Amino acid sequence: MTHPYLRPRRLRATPALRRLVAETRVSPAELVLPMFVREGAAGPVPIASMPGVVQHSRDSLRRAVAEAAEAGVGGVMLFGVPERRDAEGTAACDPGGVLNVAIADAVAEAGDALVVMADLCLDEFTDHGHCGVLAADGTVDNDATLEVYARMALAQAEAGAHLLGLSGMMDGQVAAVRAALDEEGRTDVVLLAYAAKYASAFYGPFRDAVESTLTGDRRTYQLSPSNGREGVREAMLDVAEGADIVMVKPAASYLDVLADVAAVSEVPVWAYQVSGEYAMVEAAAANGWIDRDRAIEESVLAIRRAGAEAVLTYWAVELAERLRRDAR
Ligand code: PBG
Repeated sequence: MTHPYLRPRRLRATPALRRLVAETRVSPAELVLPMFVREGAAGPVPIASMPGVVQHSRDSLRRAVAEAAEAGVGGVMLFGVPERRDAEGTAACDPGGVLNVAIADAVAEAGDALVVMADLCLDEFTDHGHCGVLAADGTVDNDATLEVYARMALAQAEAGAHLLGLSGMMDGQVAAVRAALDEEGRTDVVLLAYAAKYASAFYGPFRDAVESTLTGDRRTYQLSPSNGREGVREAMLDVAEGADIVMVKPAASYLDVLADVAAVSEVPVWAYQVSGEYAMVEAAAANGWIDRDRAIEESVLAIRRAGAEAVLTYWAVELAERLRRDAR
């Protein structure tokens, strides 16, 4: 009988040892809460496919932003649900549009306690549901969309957004928005590029959340799930265009891309744990099929381990509160 000389189990023997040797930790400051605000809502409206997530009214948004700041999360990412949509997504650039008003409300509420971020994309604002404006032949017109993004960025900066999340996957969007902002002296506004955003089924519940009805699909601008190298290329292009942070999205099904981007990026790398990832855990947990709390923690930990320095997650506040309780 030989006895093993090397015993990795030694470091797993007690909770104190396991805690001490943990390679990856999650802390509240690196969690970002995505939030929806619905124009004209009288109070929070539940989102059926995302139990526990709501479309906020102006008032409930302010309360929830205060709660997020109190929980110590790093930031909030705002999405608007407008009452009216048109082909050009006009409301996105209107200072009185739902998202721009929400940005100002969130900044007024949170001050400098957290980073107020805004989604910079047209899909919530267009009646066809695409992330850009359409050419005469019905395709998404890349360069015409860049002009709208530039105006949208200025409106969001004017409203007080600290960081803009460029999620439209148009070529050249980072450079176009950076140039427009700098031209107006907005050199301090941070740009987060959804650099590697995949055409994913896991965005399903998000369509509910923003009530967007898409004609067709997004495969002419979002990445194909089959392509990892292209995701790294997109991230590097965005860095070259001046992105301050790059992101991979969705997270769980793209941890390899995340790790590859993290290995070469000279700017921070984040990941977005999307609506479908949230809904799957909530649905399985509601059926008693998995341990909800452990699944939440494990899923976020895995995203951090793969290389994300911050994670956008609908569980941000709950997880931040739990982490702070556990730390005591
Ligand atoms: C585009 C955008 C989407 C999401 C975030 N920003 C939708 C899409 O590209 O189809 C999805 C987020 C999620 O599913 O949680 N504005």
